[in-house]
Amino acid sequence: MRYLITAALPYANGPLHIGHIAGAYLPADIFSRYLRLRGEEVLFLCGSDEHGVAITLRAWQENTTPQAIIAKYHPLLKESLHALGISVDYYGRTSDPLHHETAQQFFLRLWEKGWGEKRSVEQFWDPQAQVFLPDRYIVGTCPYCGFEEAYGDQCERCGSMLAPTDLRNPRSRLTGATPELRPSAQYYFLLDKLQSQVEAFVRSRAWKPNVGPVIENWLRQGLAPRAITRDLPWGVPVPLPDMAGKVLYVWFEAPIGYISIAKRWALETGDPLRWEAFWKDPQTRIIHFIGKDNIVFHTLIFPAILLGVAEGYTLPHDVPANEFLNLEGRKISTSRRWTIDIDKYVAIAPQRIDELRYVLTALMPQTQDRDFTWEEFAARVNNELIATLTNLVHRVLTLIWRHGGSVEVSVPAELLEARVQAAQEIGQRIERYDFGGALGVILALAQKANKRLTDAAPWHKSPQESRPILAAYGDLLAAMGTLLEPFLPLKVAPTLRKMLGVSLFPWQRLLSSAPLVEHLQLREAPIPLVAKLTPEELHTIRSQLLPMQEEIKAPKEPSTGPIPGISIEEFQKVCLKVVTIRAAERVPKADKLLKLVVEADDGLHTVVSGVAQHYAPEDLIGQQAVWVSNLPPKTLRGVTSEGMLLFAEGEGGALVRVGPERPVPPGSPVK
Ligand code: 2FM
Ligand code: ZN
Repeated sequence: MRYLITAALPYANGPLHIGHIAGAYLPADIFSRYLRLRGEEVLFLCGSDEHGVAITLRAWQENTTPQAIIAKYHPLLKESLHALGISVDYYGRTSDPLHHETAQQFFLRLWEKGWGEKRSVEQFWDPQAQVFLPDRYIVGTCPYCGFEEAYGDQCERCGSMLAPTDLRNPRSRLTGATPELRPSAQYYFLLDKLQSQVEAFVRSRAWKPNVGPVIENWLRQGLAPRAITRDLPWGVPVPLPDMAGKVLYVWFEAPIGYISIAKRWALETGDPLRWEAFWKDPQTRIIHFIGKDNIVFHTLIFPAILLGVAEGYTLPHDVPANEFLNLEGRKISTSRRWTIDIDKYVAIAPQRIDELRYVLTALMPQTQDRDFTWEEFAARVNNELIATLTNLVHRVLTLIWRHGGSVEVSVPAELLEARVQAAQEIGQRIERYDFGGALGVILALAQKANKRLTDAAPWHKSPQESRPILAAYGDLLAAMGTLLEPFLPLKVAPTLRKMLGVSLFPWQRLLSSAPLVEHLQLREAPIPLVAKLTPEELHTIRSQLLPMQEEIKAPKEPSTGPIPGISIEEFQKVCLKVVTIRAAERVPKADKLLKLVVEADDGLHTVVSGVAQHYAPEDLIGQQAVWVSNLPPKTLRGVTSEGMLLFAEGEGGALVRVGPERPVPPGSPVK
């Protein structure tokens, strides 16, 4: 089978962070590496997304040019992916003239085919900057709540969705000038006319459980015509004489990058038409790895473009989008400096890249958002990668080394069977995009082998007696050298193979119960695959990476719409009491939850609070807090919570206990 694998084209206006990696690049890489081991034909493409309003406005604000920004970030992105071992075959860019030409051809073709319409729309114009302003770059007073810094698309205080024309006293965020409404011509892509074709495509595919419902939701609302041109000085020029000074909308042209980058790759291989095998042969499977915010563009709009031009392009086989990775309980945000940037990680911990890959795979947000914490990073590295995997390999190899460095491999059926089964399951899970689960299977295999080894205790035996015990593991370790390759290809898997003197096996070999090796001959003294991560090292890495403070006081992302007024009677239905916290402990396997025992007027109650990342258990014991006592009980991670404690949300999302100014008897009402 032939595969075209793509990973979302990152915007060339900032570095990659761990969320991007866990979201799109690492899954695409594991998938590609696995397919290559299976002997499939794989082309893995990526590249920089170099247009769009964000880059344009950033250039404006920093008094530089978009060209200067992409000149800085395009190489940085490419290097970051390379340093993480993301095995892209070609990393392109959308400022490539070949991309401009390709995107323009698509635009013209849609126009010819009757899928476009020119419309005149009123837009805000900044008279000082002489540009049309995107909605987000207009601020003004919210008509609903009076907030004076509401954006042109949404009020961050009350959550209302807005149009820029809804704002009172609109101002340009660029210059502060009062914008003027001006008519402007734009081209619309008549997506509504393609709805049935797009639906037929969508229904012919099996989507991941977190992707399908998002698509259905969009389809239910109905595909609406979308403007695919913009008034911006930077981008792919609209190829029509009456549209001078306008560019194609970035989300129209960026996905076409997957095609233009394939063309550029083909040109560089010396076979300019080679890209067509990947884009125009229905036998090729095209798989786009992306984050959830990109779902609509990859599953509906880009397929609609491909259908619209009707030039024989293959539609995606799958779009396995991931959800988001949070950092220590908060949304990753580059502008708020709440992020772990890859270029910085690579500079600070160049020897620990496989470790990062391991943890990001284990925490991959495959069907729901997940949370990265440094505590879990250390625990996974020390307990899984080292205590289980490294330990197994090291115990077997040091004993073999001690007994002369060579052993005739002889594997009991039980271990052969375990290896075959594990390889099967790992493959199946990777094919279902369950990368964390696949890694878990490797770990379980190592655990099983470790236990078997501990029970046999060869280190207490004579060389003659221990030899057959060690001989049993030769096959398993040799298999690990390949099983680990898609996940840990930089250090762990190659070091293991080198120590064992074996090479990569085709995946099919791992699925057959024929032993992989006959004997092992170690050439040098074994070293641990992964060195222990000490608290000091962790502290050094962490303190250099984790942002200390928020750069700007950004308003909280609102989650609700305007708050309707309630009556005093309704408010009085809420029973609030002051309680004293008598005991506190972490809830196992839940990094955000604390289990608290609180004293009220009628005795002790258990309350679960999501504050474990803001308070150590011991800091809360003896403190008083405000308790909502008449909520229905709720079970969280097996612990039943009676009511909830109130915390104020401080700067940067920090949670701060709310209590009485002076101590009061437990159970005192709050009114
Ligand atoms: O969300 C993003 O980072 C976009 N630059 C992804 C584009 S993917 C593709 F369509 F180009
Ligand atoms: Zn508002």
